[in-house]
Amino acid sequence: MSVLSGKKVLIGVTAGIAAYKTANLVRLFIKAGAEVRVVMTPSAKDFITPLTLSTLSKNPVYSSFFEEEDENALWHNHVEMGIWADLMVIAPATANTLSKMVSGSSDNLLVATYLSAKCPVYFAPAMDLDMYNHPSTHQTFEKLQEYGNIMIPSESGELASGLVGPGRMAEPSTIVRFIENDILNKLPLKGTKVLITAGPTYEAIDPVRFIGNHSSGRMGVELAKAASNLGAHVNLILGPSSIQIEHSQIKVTRVVSAQEMFDTVVSLYNDCDIAIGAAAVADYRPKYVSDQKIKKTGGEFSIELERTNDILKWMGAEKKNQFLVGFALETQNEEENAKNKLKNKNLDLIVLNSLNDKGAGFKGQTNKVTLINHKFEIKAFDLKNKSEVAQDIFNEINTLKNE
Ligand code: C5P
Repeated sequence: MSVLSGKKVLIGVTAGIAAYKTANLVRLFIKAGAEVRVVMTPSAKDFITPLTLSTLSKNPVYSSFFEEEDENALWHNHVEMGIWADLMVIAPATANTLSKMVSGSSDNLLVATYLSAKCPVYFAPAMDLDMYNHPSTHQTFEKLQEYGNIMIPSESGELASGLVGPGRMAEPSTIVRFIENDILNKLPLKGTKVLITAGPTYEAIDPVRFIGNHSSGRMGVELAKAASNLGAHVNLILGPSSIQIEHSQIKVTRVVSAQEMFDTVVSLYNDCDIAIGAAAVADYRPKYVSDQKIKKTGGEFSIELERTNDILKWMGAEKKNQFLVGFALETQNEEENAKNKLKNKNLDLIVLNSLNDKGAGFKGQTNKVTLINHKFEIKAFDLKNKSEVAQDIFNEINTLKNE
């Protein structure tokens, strides 16, 4: 899956001959799973029609502040478009538009939108070689990059004038790859290894029965997805859960019992930077597991139980440079108990969810958490989807790790 999937991409098209290639550029962004809107300079319409780009992007294409021939026309809101975008790419970017971007001369919708954009802006210069080589053009490139814009280098080759040299707009596939790589390289967890335990554990009584719990594994799975979206390599150790997960950056190891989960954690813990114990691990298991199905008898029946390993506590004791996060599901004295766990298990952060809160806990799609860090600072969050909770948790981890 491309990092562009779900991203809102605003393409700005200016009046260069390479504008004909933007039809393909729109297609490639759409194929990568992005949502695309296009804004053009008025003269760009001489090179490619708005109809082509609106058909491919499935969105209206604007080139003026309002439709002049329509007296009831609505204002085309450049501020709204600038805020809407997760990223803006100006391709082809002519010398004229680039110099306007430097001076802030917003006499067309495209430059006004650029000035309103809060997102990263990429520009792919396209011009003839003499224009490209002119000192003023080089100053423009430098100034724009100084402002934080990202230049997608032009290629050298045959130009529309028939001359050969630098100034050809990068090919659409190169532009898309450049942006994908740039996003990947800037992800906050790039190169980080994250270990997550999730789901319940089942402790066998006999070949057909077990002691388990209601954990769905969803919170841990959402944490794994959030970590990989932030650029991490994730090892997810998942107890018996019905959730199916396939992701190139998430290695899933399926386990059943607390002992199997423990053994897997032991084999991976040294090689991780962040570890999160989100599993609802059984605290006890049957001391003796029957080989055969236990037959019922007339009287009472009891099972002798023994303690399982506390996996998180082991991780806390063995901690070197790892950032360690635990969960606490409490029904009473919530904060007090969570703080004790944070200390006893040598954690850097604990995620408290109370069974007293409606919609919180380990069964549903939502959770309501309170985060407590090693300084006992407390942050309470509203009821949210578990995917959003996972993002809140990683925001906090990133903040604490960078302190
Ligand atoms: O002490 P308590 O079980 O309430 O702590 C919960 C936290 O400890 C969770 O993060 C859970 O994943 C972890 N835990 C563990 N191994 C156990 C029991 C709990 O990793 N055997």
